[in-house]
Amino acid sequence: MANLIVNPNKRGAKINRNIYGHFSEHLGRCIYNGLFVGENSSIPNVNGMRTDVVEALKNIRVPVLRWPGGCFADEYHWKDGIGPKETRKRMVNTHWGGVVEDNSFGTHEFMELCRQIGCEPYVNGNVGSGTVQEMSEWVEYMTFDGVSPMAELRRKNGREEPWKLTYFGVGNENWGCGGNMRPEYYADLFRRYSTYVRNYGDNKVFKIACGPNAGDYSWTDKVMEIAGNYANALTLHYYTVPDDWKDKGFALGFDRAAYYRTLNKALKMEDLVSNHLAIMRRHDPEGKVGLIVDEWGTWYNVEPGTNPGFLYQQNTMRDAMVAAATLNIFNHHADGVIMANIAQMVNVLQAVVLTEGEKMLLTPTYHVFDLYKGHQDATLLDSYVETTEIGTEEAQIPNLTQSASVDENGHVLITVANLSADDSQPLSVWVRGKEQAEVSIRMLSGAMDAHNTFEEPETVKLCDFTDYTRKDGGVQLTLPACSVAAITLA
Ligand code: AHR
Repeated sequence: MANLIVNPNKRGAKINRNIYGHFSEHLGRCIYNGLFVGENSSIPNVNGMRTDVVEALKNIRVPVLRWPGGCFADEYHWKDGIGPKETRKRMVNTHWGGVVEDNSFGTHEFMELCRQIGCEPYVNGNVGSGTVQEMSEWVEYMTFDGVSPMAELRRKNGREEPWKLTYFGVGNENWGCGGNMRPEYYADLFRRYSTYVRNYGDNKVFKIACGPNAGDYSWTDKVMEIAGNYANALTLHYYTVPDDWKDKGFALGFDRAAYYRTLNKALKMEDLVSNHLAIMRRHDPEGKVGLIVDEWGTWYNVEPGTNPGFLYQQNTMRDAMVAAATLNIFNHHADGVIMANIAQMVNVLQAVVLTEGEKMLLTPTYHVFDLYKGHQDATLLDSYVETTEIGTEEAQIPNLTQSASVDENGHVLITVANLSADDSQPLSVWVRGKEQAEVSIRMLSGAMDAHNTFEEPETVKLCDFTDYTRKDGGVQLTLPACSVAAITLA
């Protein structure tokens, strides 16, 4: 029996709901066919947005959505995506599959998608191949209410009121696809470009600087030294790749060794977040600059027979375990991690939703976001769980991962995952002051490679778990192998 102890008297930071954010890029079938099918599609839609997908996303309370990329962002020229659709440029998506980009999804459509989902927009600007003027005008187009060329253009295109835009990224992966820059050069460009990202009226833009790739600590150090005073946040990108970048391993048909290797790599997020935050705090002791992990998730070889540039992969209970462990890590760092965006929302990498024509399915990862949604804007509580080391010789991991929070109604939510592929784990949960509380438990479990298909979309789904007992004020249950539980004490 392992003990999981929560101390409600020791409160941490508020868990920013944006930790449960998402990322959507003009890549493969994420935007086109996944989120957006156009008004004339036979697939039910509202103003071109798939109704089934939007409804599913509303259920997990998506708080923020990043767009248009990714690598696509530093090649995107926003004026190509406004105005009458028939006159929008048709061009090649050079980064992702060389397919035709017809620009039918642009700024207006993105803002409409966010409106329907009920989330905040996070727009990523172009530093790699765009100009200062272009970036400045995009912000003016989106947010200025007065008399100006860009505000007039927006009105001419059918939108009278400006939109509210909080989050704006100044470049993406500028150490790589965003221009192959050195940190010193990027940091100077950030200072320059961000100067012209203006606040119009009440709209205050939160300026986000391009941060490091995984463990590139010198990038964080240099960018913080040169540009830290000008930024509100710095990003971190880290993908969980089971093998190596040349041959990453597959989403399905993996063995136990690959399972534990994947989780071992996912858990490296703890060190990455801690170390980058420590460097950031050296330059910014007051913690004014937040860390945004705006690309994270598993990255496998694409599904056999699919376009290699589309990054389409299936999603199993292994991915659910990665999501559960990663989100627990972000919760524990609620004082520094102010946003995270899983890559990507639909049909790309670790997606929460997959579509095929008019069919849609929810992945195991989706259900983890559902189990964890009660953490959004709740207050982190001190918690501890007894663990044992499991896995293979090359990839040891703790068998359990957990986090806990309390919401404004005093309800305590504990999310705990049993990462073992084979062994169930008896657990005793203790929350001081909640000895008499009403308990409800929702659970996701299955074999490590269990997944949903369009033929059988409910193989992996959430269930209410009632097989627990109460003793001495604690809650006793057995977590099945490869499971995630959300335990609420009301
Ligand atoms: O998410 C896919 C790609 O991964 C993004 O476009 C890029 O930012 C990262 O390298």
